[in-house]
Parts: sequence; C-alpha cells; structure tokens
Amino acid sequence: MFNSISSQAHKLINLTKINKTKTKTKLITITSGKGGVGKSTFTANIAYLLTKKNLNVLVLDADIGLANMQVLFNVKPKYTLFDYIESHKTLDEIITQTAYKNLALIAGKSSYKHAKIKNSLVFSRIINDIMNLNKYDIILVDTGAGLNEYVQEFLSISHNILAITTTDPSALTDVYALIKMISHQKEKLMICFNHTQSYQIGESISNSLIKLAKNNMLKSNFMIEYIGNVSTSANISTTSRLRKLFVHEFASEVITKQLHEVINSLLKNIK
Ligand SMILES: Nc1ncnc2c1ncn2[C@@H]1O[C@H](COP(=O)(O)OP(=O)(O)O)[C@@H](O)[C@H]1O
Ligand SMILES: [Mg+2]
Repeated sequence: MFNSISSQAHKLINLTKINKTKTKTKLITITSGKGGVGKSTFTANIAYLLTKKNLNVLVLDADIGLANMQVLFNVKPKYTLFDYIESHKTLDEIITQTAYKNLALIAGKSSYKHAKIKNSLVFSRIINDIMNLNKYDIILVDTGAGLNEYVQEFLSISHNILAITTTDPSALTDVYALIKMISHQKEKLMICFNHTQSYQIGESISNSLIKLAKNNMLKSNFMIEYIGNVSTSANISTTSRLRKLFVHEFASEVITKQLHEVINSLLKNIK
C-alpha cells in the first residue's frame, strides 16, 4: 500500500515538476503513530520559535481526525485545506495569517469525509503549489494519528520526517511501526520525546530503538536521528486552553529552552 502510494506520489511530483533546487521552502512532516502524544502542541510551539530565527513559517493542519491548529493559534480561518483541494478557493484565500509575525496557517477540518476525495494524491498538489510560491522557508505539516493513506502520502513526499512520541510502551510500539514503514522508503527519521524529563532518557530509548531496528534488519543505511526531549508542564495545557502559545508566554521556562535545542538540532538535520 505504502509502496504504491509512494510511487504514485513520486510520479505526480515529476509531473508537476517540483524542483527542490528552485525553491527555498523546506517541508517537515510531523507524525507520531499514536494520538495524544503532543504533536500539535509541539508543532505550534516550534513554528513560533522558528519565526524567531527569522524564518517565514507556514503550518498545514493535515489532521483529518482532530484539526485543532486554529485553536492553538487562536484564529478563525474562513477556509480550510479542503477548499483548495476541492478547487473552490485559491492558496491566497486559504492561508490565514496568525497574530504572530511570519507565521501563517492552512487550517484543516475535522471529520472530513475521506470518500469525498477522489484522488489519493490530494496533498502532493497543495505542497507542490506552496513550494512553488517560494515564499515560505519552512512548511510544518501536522499529520493525524495513525498511518492511514493520507499520512502515508505526506510521508512519501517529505524529505524531512519528525516523529513525536512519549516513552509509554504503547507510543513506542506505534513509533516502531512507523520506523519500520519509513525505513523502506527513506534514509532518515528524526525523533523527539515529549513528556520526557531528561535529554539522556530520550537518547537512551532512541538508542534502543536503533538497536532493535538493526536486530530486525531494517535497511542498513537507515538512520534514526534523536533531536531532543520536552518535559511535562501543566502550563502547556493551560496556555493551550487559553489559546496562547507556551513558548510565547513562558520564554525563559525549561521547556522553551528544550524546544530551542530541538529546533537547533532540527535545522541542522533538514534538507
Ligand atoms: N509537554 C507537555 N506537558 C504537558 N501537557 C502537554 C505536553 N505536550 C502536550 N500536552 C497536552 O497534551 C494534550 C494532547 O496534546 P496534542 O498536542 O493535542 O496531541 P496530539 O496532537 O499528538 O494528539 C493537550 O492537552 C496538550 O496541552
Ligand atoms: Mg493533534
């Protein structure tokens, strides 16, 4: 399934002539396997920190199950990703500027009916079109939980994939399934541990995953790149409930520092 979607996606990319050398835009797909691990919260907060590095950032909410980016950014977008996919609206019309400088959002829509989308390569086109604008430095795609065909399509077209997980056995099981799938197609997966107090804990679990992958003979040149950890803080849920960004409200907190380290490592690892 993944292989066939992936080869279709690559064909489409060739057809639409995406040319990475002609665009400055870098695509980073953020995924998790398991839901509720903090993927959207993480995405929204790193998006803001990336703008503080003078980067122009666009977040695309591709979570069909629970699209909540507009809540985290406290915006009320008129249109969503699907208005573009269904050709009702232009890119300009579906891109919503947030209150944060250089931070824009393409909102998703919860419970979007999959059956309404006829072509499985729906996301490749919008990504191509955004890249061809050559306006954004970074597109962050927040995918939904699980490995459905839409998530797989994003994974297949992304040069940079970042998995967010916790250290819970169930989250690790899901992230390992993700690793297995991605290792057939890609050379690298970045990994970040949420709800993890120390950098070393994340590093040691990440090493165990690498060992497991080696023992199970996943592709030998496949790399898992550990890019950091984020601790737990009640203030994260509180700021999200208030529709504010943690890193904006708590600029000198430990978690904000951890996220700074994560994005420094992320920026070194993306292409
Ligand atoms: N590091 C953290 N500390 C405390 N709460 C967190 C942390 N990361 C995420 N959360 C909370 O966990 C819940 C799920 O996060 P969310 O980003 O929606 O997960 P996902 O997108 O993976 O489903 C939210 O209530 C969020 O505020
Ligand atoms: Mg989410």
